[in-house]
Amino acid sequence: MVDLTTTYLGLQLKNPVVASASPISKKLDGIRSLEDAGAGAVVMYSLFEEQIVQESLALDHYLNRGTESYAESLTYFPDLQHYNVGPEDYLNLIHKAKQTVNIPIIGSLNGVSTGGWIDYARKIEQAGADALELNVYYIPTDSDLSGQELEQSYVDLVKDVRAQVNIPLAVKLSPFFTALPNLAGRLAGAGANGLVLFNRFMQPDLDIETLEVTPNLVLSSSNELRLPLRWVAILYGRIQADLALTSGVHSAQDVLKAMMAGASVTMLASELLQHGVKRIGEIVTDMQAWMETFEYQSVQQMKGSMSQRAVAEPAAFERANYMKALTSFDNRLK
Ligand SMILES: Cc1cc2nc3c(=O)[nH]c(=O)nc-3n(C[C@H](O)[C@H](O)[C@H](O)COP(=O)(O)O)c2cc1C
Repeated sequence: MVDLTTTYLGLQLKNPVVASASPISKKLDGIRSLEDAGAGAVVMYSLFEEQIVQESLALDHYLNRGTESYAESLTYFPDLQHYNVGPEDYLNLIHKAKQTVNIPIIGSLNGVSTGGWIDYARKIEQAGADALELNVYYIPTDSDLSGQELEQSYVDLVKDVRAQVNIPLAVKLSPFFTALPNLAGRLAGAGANGLVLFNRFMQPDLDIETLEVTPNLVLSSSNELRLPLRWVAILYGRIQADLALTSGVHSAQDVLKAMMAGASVTMLASELLQHGVKRIGEIVTDMQAWMETFEYQSVQQMKGSMSQRAVAEPAAFERANYMKALTSFDNRLK
């Protein structure tokens, strides 16, 4: 029998197939179904900075009738009215989930600025979450804002959140950084116990008839695995933080690749939304079968075995790979 257990953020998980933040965890039944399907852990859908701020603005409006700020914020974030339950319900759901399931529950906060809203990190801890994931989703449109300043704001935010909680903290990042290994090291230094690579940016679309910018959520495919796979392989063994791989994990092969690159866990959303939570069990079974065929005894044994440090050709993860890939395409044309 192969050993599928893995350690992530100091938590012992029965397998590395974790449910990523998604609408499935918005209801207790959904969380229970993820455990029943065999998930190693569940990352809750996110509580957004805007939701927390909006609630405090609503309170402010109630206390000081006549202020316009609440109305403005409602038009600015119209979707939040429908997005999900409020902050208190979020905490209650974590509390109930912890009483209902045995697998670790990871709370998720999504925001960019330091401020009062990060008190919710502590509240999520108090609600019983085993760990916290901080999703920093920021699109820098200000040309006066330098990369250095932006990175510093990430580091400061992580420090502030770290100061709020004792539970392990993971930071979910976008792939768009100039010098990711340097930032990754600084975030670990600021108190992140894990990095979740990568947040999948939902790209807006343009409606050419109504002339509106429309949100457009397209689910991922396995092709998107390559980007986080490369960076997990490069970062493995270089920073003092666990690595979780998300974006494009759809099959047992994808999970196995992630482990070999150096991930402690994989996090899935699109596959579960497309084909149901039962896919978790199928993926775990397929993984087990593959490992038996290829005589691996444990996930631990394969972890990082194809990281940049471990492979015979480290340059394959760098610029050389680009040239090789182009050459291989030329050969196809011959
Ligand atoms: C409908 C939907 C809702 C999501 N909600 C959240 C969220 O609340 N917080 C978060 O950090 N990520 C959220 N994500 C991102 C996923 O957790 C995941 O990181 C991303 O989709 C990449 O994984 P995938 O390729 O398996 O979909 C959401 C994704 C989808 C498709």
